[in-house]
This record gives sequence, C-alpha cells and structure tokens, in this order.
Amino acid sequence: MRILVTGGAGFIGSHVVDAYVGAGHEVLVLDDLSTGRPGQVHPRAEFCQADLRAAPLDDLFRRFRPEVVNQHAALVEVRRSVAAPALDAERNVMTLLRVLEACVRHGVARVVFASSGGAIYGEGCALPTPETATPAPVSPYGASKLIGEHYLRVFHRLHGLPYLALRYANVYGPRQDPAGEAGVVAIFTDRLLAGRSPVINGDGEQTRDYLALAPEAVGPVNIGTGQETSVNELYRQLCAVVGQQTPAVHGPPKAGEQRRSALDASRAQAWLGWRPATSLAEGLRQSVEAFRRGRPWPGPE
Ligand SMILES: NC(=O)c1ccc[n+]([C@@H]2O[C@H](COP(=O)([O-])OP(=O)(O)OC[C@H]3O[C@@H](n4cnc5c(N)ncnc54)[C@H](O)[C@@H]3O)[C@@H](O)[C@H]2O)c1
Repeated sequence: MRILVTGGAGFIGSHVVDAYVGAGHEVLVLDDLSTGRPGQVHPRAEFCQADLRAAPLDDLFRRFRPEVVNQHAALVEVRRSVAAPALDAERNVMTLLRVLEACVRHGVARVVFASSGGAIYGEGCALPTPETATPAPVSPYGASKLIGEHYLRVFHRLHGLPYLALRYANVYGPRQDPAGEAGVVAIFTDRLLAGRSPVINGDGEQTRDYLALAPEAVGPVNIGTGQETSVNELYRQLCAVVGQQTPAVHGPPKAGEQRRSALDASRAQAWLGWRPATSLAEGLRQSVEAFRRGRPWPGPE
C-alpha cells in the first residue's frame, strides 16, 4: 500500500513509519522539521520537507497517489495553544482541512488521524474514559483535536471518506524530545541523567495514562493502557530506574492541563485487535536506556 505520513519525522510519526516500512508498505513522509528530525525518517521511506500550510499537496498526491493518509503533523504544545489559540488552529485545524480536501480530490481510501485521548475529554469523565464519553477539552489544543474529529466525521458523511481517529494517551519512549513540553518522561529523564532536579507542575497528583508505543471501522478509538498514574508516582518509578533519588521541585500548575486522565481502550481491542504490550516499568526502562545511549537519537534500525 502507498501511505503518506505527515509528521513522519517526529516522535510518534517516525515509529509509525518504521512499522509501515517493516510491513512492506511504500511510505512518503511529509514533515516541515519544525520539531521532527531528518535522522528519524526511515531510510527506505521517501522524504519531502514541506509545511502543510503551504505544501503543494495536489502535486504530491498526483505523483505519490497515496491510498492511506496518516496525519501526525501538529503543533503539540498545550501551553502554547493557551497563549496563541489562533496559531494552534492554523497549525492543527487548517492543516488537517487542507489534507482532507486533497484526500477527497485524489480518492484516498482512508485517513488515520492522531487525536488526543489525553486532551479532548477534559474534566469530569468516568475513568478510565470510554469513547462514548462527551468530550469537553480544557485547552485550545484539545479543542482543535476535537474539531479535527468533527471534520473527519463530516467528510465521511459528505464524501464517504473512511477514517480512524486514534485518541492517544500520554505517549512516551525513545525519540521523544525533552525540549518539548509534552513528554514528561523525556523531560524528567533528561534532567535526572544530568543530575538536576526536574520541576513538577502543581502538586504532582494529576494523573495520566502513559502509553508506550487496515480495519473497516470508522470513528474515534482510544489508544491507552487504562492505568491512571500520577506524575509523582511516575517520578518515583523513574528515579528507581535511573538509580537516583533527586528530589523534584514543585512549580505552579499549568493552565489548560486537565487533572486526571486514563483511557478505556476496549474499543481498540475490539475494532483493531490492539492492546498495550509494554508495562510502564518496561517502557520507562527502554526510555532511560535510549537517553543513556545519548544523542543522536536512536533512528530506525
Ligand atoms: N506525544 C503525545 O503524548 C501525544 C498524545 C496524543 C496525541 N499526540 C498527537 O500525535 C501526533 C505526533 O505527536 P508527537 O508527540 O510525535 O510530536 P512531534 O512534535 O514529535 O511530531 C510532530 C511532527 O509534525 C511535524 N510538523 C508540525 N507541524 C507541521 C506542519 N505544519 N507541516 C509539516 N510538518 C509539521 C513536526 O516537525 C514533527 O515532526 C500529533 O498530532 C500529536 O497531537 C501526541
């Protein structure tokens, strides 16, 4: 199959590309390298450096003729979205719309969209949260992911374009950038290995569902472990793996971040046959090992 992966030079997208190439698919990566790295793009994938806001999508689609489009490109910064919601919408909503329009014009068979189970549900949903819960995001980033899902549903209805919206939990693992704001495991590990104290935003009792990384189904699917882990507990486990007991500093809580999060992934098992394969302890061990190997980041094998 020919698969276009936007954001395929980034943390999650590059692992997705590796899996597609490993399964024998032909892959085109489109990435502007705003946070992605060229060394993470699988050598057997074609690479096009372009910004989705201006990329010549018709030329690319005409030439590569993708059958599946996997949209991972996004500005993944909750706090920046709070400070600049219009920028977030330009980067996360308008880019998806441009891609969806091109998919319709060029007869793409399926779209896979990286949504966020950690950001769209907001406060007050049952935990672990099923896809049937009513989402009420508390940040512009979460709102733009939810709007993206609405557009997918509308495009499916209007144009028959099938889609899956993968609502990822808080993903961590090798290649995650500690300079970003999203990856608490990467940020903590980077600081701990440098012998510095990380800052825990707020009291650290906020919880997350930490997820280590060609069906017919259409709609949203939670991708998570169902395990609720507080940031304090995560930090304790990480210290044990690193072999240090550096005390963390607590800073003020951050606007736009929800308090509790854990995803019910039973639909992923029923629809996709997917279930989490990596425990938190094992995932943290692999992440710390990757950090210890140091930069350049581990690229495709
Ligand atoms: N990391 C998480 O915990 C998490 C959780 C839920 C959902 N997601 C979603 O998964 C996807 C990937 O996230 P990630 O953590 O790998 O982040 P990332 O920043 O590593 O990946 C995003 C990639 O998109 C590229 N990109 C950004 N804007 C672009 C544009 N306008 N045109 C072309 N390329 C562009 C970046 O260069 C980068 O390579 C995102 O859509 C994100 O919202 C991530």
